[in-house]
Amino acid sequence: MRIVSGIQPTGNLHLGNYLGAIRNWVRMQDENAAAGGDTLFFLADMHAITVYNDPATLTANTREMAAALIAAGIDPAKAVLFNQARVPAHAELCWLLNGTARIGWLNRMTQFKEKSGKNRESASVGLFAYPVLQAADVLLYKATHVPVGEDQKQHLELARDVATKFNTDYGVELFTLPEPIIPPAAARIMSLRDGSAKMSKSDPSDMARINLTDDADLIAQKVRKAKTDPEPLPEDIGGLDGRPEARNLIGIYAALTDATPAAVLAEHAGKGFGQFKAILAERLIETLAPIRARFETLKQDPAEIDRLLAVGAARAAELAAPTLAGTYAALGLCR
Ligand code: TYM
Repeated sequence: MRIVSGIQPTGNLHLGNYLGAIRNWVRMQDENAAAGGDTLFFLADMHAITVYNDPATLTANTREMAAALIAAGIDPAKAVLFNQARVPAHAELCWLLNGTARIGWLNRMTQFKEKSGKNRESASVGLFAYPVLQAADVLLYKATHVPVGEDQKQHLELARDVATKFNTDYGVELFTLPEPIIPPAAARIMSLRDGSAKMSKSDPSDMARINLTDDADLIAQKVRKAKTDPEPLPEDIGGLDGRPEARNLIGIYAALTDATPAAVLAEHAGKGFGQFKAILAERLIETLAPIRARFETLKQDPAEIDRLLAVGAARAAELAAPTLAGTYAALGLCR
């Protein structure tokens, strides 16, 4: 297996990232290392600049996100960990693929529609072309498996479309079609304040998300204040219909305990949310406290983080070189 995935270094690692993606990254990294496959995880700093980011903050966030990933279990000895900006092959391949990606495909991307809002004319070109860079990220390494949350599924379908069209147009078997790997229970962790919005770094309310850097008191407070309804936990999944906030808290607990939502309900049916929230908060703290402690130590040494990212980038560049050369050659570009 060739496993590849990325995360934007904007703000904190939150529970949605962790349960939706990073925990899966750690598991897959361990399995793939044992099986002798290559695993690559990167900070999508080149994606972060598709909207304005304060430069000094971006630098700090890149190092902090790397520290957070290591704290969460990404092991630079088992996985290649780097940031895109250190591996120019990502930007190069993106440009080479821009001739193949279609405007119509990009127009359908829901993330672009959400992020550009009503004012599409003033969205950046980078925000529109964002999925082409993401396609380059995975195609560059001939990724077979891409562990992500559900919100990234559409972007990966686009990567598959780009790969197929390029291979067909130029009569080559260069790019491999990547398969998204989406965790069933935690595909989409929602905001604690609004069960119809995903938990996100860009939510203006910090109470809407649990950050991996929140301390125990703050986690308990955020869970206590999470929006719910007055009904107790139902007996089965059907009883969660029309109750997105209740469904979200059950889903979080299911993901944390590696259970199905049905099994969680079988165990806790009839409890009020006051009682269930206390159980959930305890479990969250148990999972997140050790990650937070490791993070606090790692972030004291940004030079070491930079060193690790540079080592990862050198290895990534090696793995990327043949695909990049193959793409230039397929296009007939003289070099
Ligand atoms: P990003 O930085 O928004 O999120 C990183 C990972 O976390 C997942 N995720 C969630 N999963 C469940 N519930 C949520 N509320 C939630 N919020 C985030 C995301 O699905 C993702 O897996 N475009 C990507 C970064 C990227 C990438 C790539 C990913 C760039 N190139 C190539 C895979 C392959 C992004 O912005 O993810």
